[in-house]
Amino acid sequence: MDFLLGQTEPLLAIRGLGKTFGRHVALKTIDLDVHEGEFLSFLGPSGCGKSTLLRIITGLERQSAGTISQGGRDISALSPVGRGFGILFQSYALFPNLTVRQNVAYGLNGAGQEADARVAELLEMVGLPGIGGKFPSQLSGGQQQRVALARALAPSPKLLLLDEPLSALDAKVRVHLREQIKDLQRRLGITTIMVTHDQEEALAMADRIVVMNHGTVEQVGTPGCIYRHPASLFVASFVGKMNVLPGQVTGGAFRPHGAAAAVALLQGVREGTAQLCVRPEDVEVSVAADVAGVAASVESVEFLGAFTRLRLVVPAWGGVVLSADVAARQMRDLAIGPGAPVWIALDPARLQLLPGDGDA
Ligand SMILES: Nc1ncnc2c1ncn2[C@@H]1O[C@H](COP(=O)(O)OP(=O)(O)OP(=O)(O)O)[C@@H](O)[C@H]1O
Ligand SMILES: [Mg+2]
Repeated sequence: MDFLLGQTEPLLAIRGLGKTFGRHVALKTIDLDVHEGEFLSFLGPSGCGKSTLLRIITGLERQSAGTISQGGRDISALSPVGRGFGILFQSYALFPNLTVRQNVAYGLNGAGQEADARVAELLEMVGLPGIGGKFPSQLSGGQQQRVALARALAPSPKLLLLDEPLSALDAKVRVHLREQIKDLQRRLGITTIMVTHDQEEALAMADRIVVMNHGTVEQVGTPGCIYRHPASLFVASFVGKMNVLPGQVTGGAFRPHGAAAAVALLQGVREGTAQLCVRPEDVEVSVAADVAGVAASVESVEFLGAFTRLRLVVPAWGGVVLSADVAARQMRDLAIGPGAPVWIALDPARLQLLPGDGDA
């Protein structure tokens, strides 16, 4: 995938983009490249500016500062129609008085046999062949959203823009439809941007994730990169579950605040206050005393099906409480419950140290 190498000319180049609503700053100086064929996800908490950024890209909203270029041409002044991007929002927004066929055909220029064939092809593509004669009210939410997707894809847009397209659907339909959309996107090779506040959705679907917070971009990277190497405490805590231990780095070792023992030896890290981050699945738990480990006790046990989440108190680390995810099979071997003494070890290769005290 060329875009991962960053060598191709971007399809869209967003430069110095800002947006204010009155005195409220919704976006602050966003710089972002969108590459041909990629699936990009804007991920962040409510109000961070995801929809605003997407609406500016569609042309439905005008930026207060900065430019958007497509293939080197500034498109900032173009209307949504002039840009010709495919758009799909959370609400299905189908015309209730038109049939499915008419709804999809609405996205096409022209009528006749060619249009009919194209509508049939699109409905087939979204997995709904033969429902062209139905009205939106006769369809489930997931089906309506797929029809809306077919309509957005009808004119073969260069760019598909999706704003929380799955969030109105129930969990099962949502997971099914996200696989379908991803599959379709891959087959068509259509450049797609999807807004979501659901980190699991972003991790599962996107080639690259743009993590946003308070109108700024915190980090851009592949799901693996965002998950394994979060650039900030915000990203670390927003994407997946993360244990964060505040403490101090001295002499190459990290010591949680109030701890009697150092956690691990880390090479090449800056001295001073820092936050040690470790994923729950990277906390190794055993019942046999381990020279590399530290004693802990099980505070609580939460059964979550495929794995169990333990909350562990570590007296030698100042009484810090860590979450540890233990796979079902290992949990059976451990045979432990609340109050049990255990040993934990952290693999230095799985630790991430973020400088500062986390207030930034
Ligand atoms: N038309 C508007 N007028 C005034 N303020 C607005 C307008 N649209 C958005 N905002 C404000 O801009 C900020 C960003 O809004 P935006 O809708 O982009 O957030 P979001 O990340 O999409 O959130 P959500 O996940 O809740 O959809 C919010 O504080 C919002 O209140
Ligand atoms: Mg939004």
